Amino acid sequence: MRNRHIEVSPLAGALGAELGGVDLSRPLPEEVHGEVLDALHEHIVIFFRDQELDCAQHQAFASNFGPPIEHPFTRGLDEWPETIEIIRSPGEDYNWDSKFHSDLMFLEAPPMGASLYALEIPPYGGDTLFVNMYLAYETLSEKMKEVLSGLRGVNESGPPSGYSTPGAMAGKQGEPMFASHPVVRTHPVTGRKALFVSPGFTRRIEGMTEDESRPLIEFLCSHALRPEFSCRFRWSAGAVAVWDNRVSLHRAVPDFFGEVDNYRRVMHRVTIGGDRPI
Ligand code: SIN
Repeated sequence: MRNRHIEVSPLAGALGAELGGVDLSRPLPEEVHGEVLDALHEHIVIFFRDQELDCAQHQAFASNFGPPIEHPFTRGLDEWPETIEIIRSPGEDYNWDSKFHSDLMFLEAPPMGASLYALEIPPYGGDTLFVNMYLAYETLSEKMKEVLSGLRGVNESGPPSGYSTPGAMAGKQGEPMFASHPVVRTHPVTGRKALFVSPGFTRRIEGMTEDESRPLIEFLCSHALRPEFSCRFRWSAGAVAVWDNRVSLHRAVPDFFGEVDNYRRVMHRVTIGGDRPI
């Protein structure tokens, strides 16, 4: 795809591209907006470096992809409830996203994506990994694709208290949430099919017990997590990532804690509303 207004540098063979020549603090001109959306649809996760955004600018940028929404279990900033501050502090063994996941799969309409903006980054570690779920689907055998066709996964949030951490990320009251979605979903823009299961949220196949479902879910998740379907982003302060949550998994690597590596990592995330998967 030829871009006339932005530079696109792929990060890995599977997914991910850094975009240059875009100032996210200002409204995106129409042609730039079109090229950024095309890059997201082609590369699934796009990255920008050296941005300076206040909360209003970050939310306005995220709105280029869809409506910002509040997180059901993590409290947003007082004046910007759709922006959550993800903080990992020295000595904390807590890990907000310890498993690969697609965000909020337990909602009836899970997010289309999210924009993550780095404010404070450790000198090493704290990268984020992303996985291409189109590739995870496309590399299955035709027989396995037949087996999956029509199956629905039951996705559970787990306890709401798992989304907050004392002194850093405030939680919201609530009951655990559940949603059933197709195990294979079709992207509304590209028309491509992608696996829609995750180790973080998918507990069972609808109509089957957890014991019956486990081997299939474990196989699909371990297949999806093959390194050649992934990319890894090294953060710098001022970097922004936007991912298409419909066709990717992600997780942060919490490798900068403990006696020696006493660093903080602070990110602002705006979650972007999506549609019911089909
Ligand atoms: C997230 O799961 O939304 C956060 C990822 C990260 O902090 O790198």
